[in-house]
Amino acid sequence: MSEPLLSVRDLKVSFPTHTGRVNVVDGLGFDLGRERLGIVGESGSGKSMTGRAILRLIRPPGRVTAERLRFDGTDLLTLPESKMRPIRGARISMVMQDPRYSLNPVMTIGRQIAEALRMHENLGRAATRARVRDMLEAVQINDPDRVSQMYAHEVSGGMGQRIMIAMMLVPRPQILIADEPTSALDVSVQAQVLDLIDDLVRDHGMGLILISHDLNLVARYCDRIMVMNAGRVVERCDAADLAQATHPYTRGLLAAVPRMHETRETLPVLDRSQWEGT
Ligand SMILES: Nc1ncnc2c1ncn2[C@@H]1O[C@H](COP(=O)(O)OP(=O)(O)OP(=O)(O)O)[C@@H](O)[C@H]1O
Ligand SMILES: [Mg+2]
Repeated sequence: MSEPLLSVRDLKVSFPTHTGRVNVVDGLGFDLGRERLGIVGESGSGKSMTGRAILRLIRPPGRVTAERLRFDGTDLLTLPESKMRPIRGARISMVMQDPRYSLNPVMTIGRQIAEALRMHENLGRAATRARVRDMLEAVQINDPDRVSQMYAHEVSGGMGQRIMIAMMLVPRPQILIADEPTSALDVSVQAQVLDLIDDLVRDHGMGLILISHDLNLVARYCDRIMVMNAGRVVERCDAADLAQATHPYTRGLLAAVPRMHETRETLPVLDRSQWEGT
């Protein structure tokens, strides 16, 4: 079998605390090809740290170790920072939670996309303008010329998220890491953004890591699911088999998902004694 696009083994991310170093990601391993992998788990389970570690975005005193962290034949662990830069954002892109913090507040949307394009392609002025328009249209922005003139604070959360996705896709990355890409958006816009990511991932034949605390959402948009708790993978399954998940933590997350047409007095509380200390 050929080598997967991304291969991770025994990944650990630790931070110092007053009781010593704590592994917030603790021995994680997975392979990713041109497929959609979902990472789910409650807040603090280590999902974002996993994404950031892959892109080497963990700053000291945080520390990353791994037995293997390979991307497309390159060892990311030992790669000098100067060689990491062209990979980060260009060959592996990450969409962060709130796009308005990632967009430049003092540059129009159109200029930001144009600058991103210029860094990766040698285009003339007219061609650049046409590409900016195409990119905005690809993320379903209907009046690209008007939106190009706007600043980040003038666009809605959903539009900002779609603009971010357009920017992330400029260099045609092989892997997209989407960290809670829609948690700041309302439900109808959420579905639009996720459908869009889904189409783009399929059209470009990319690998996707979709990070979320929402099991249903991940099950709908991914092929495989990895459930994390306290920095470790507690369950792996095909999205289609989620209902048959066996680990008590996953069962607990599933039971906590509210269903339509259901009234409940209280939401169930996860019973940690069932898996902790095992
Ligand atoms: N700079 C830091 N120093 C110490 N601990 C940290 C630091 N940054 C993150 N952590 C801890 O690492 C753990 C994992 O954080 P991470 O951001 O990966 O969680 P998450 O699964 O993405 O949660 P959420 O769903 O809330 O985004 C958390 O317990 C967090 O408190
Ligand atoms: Mg997170």
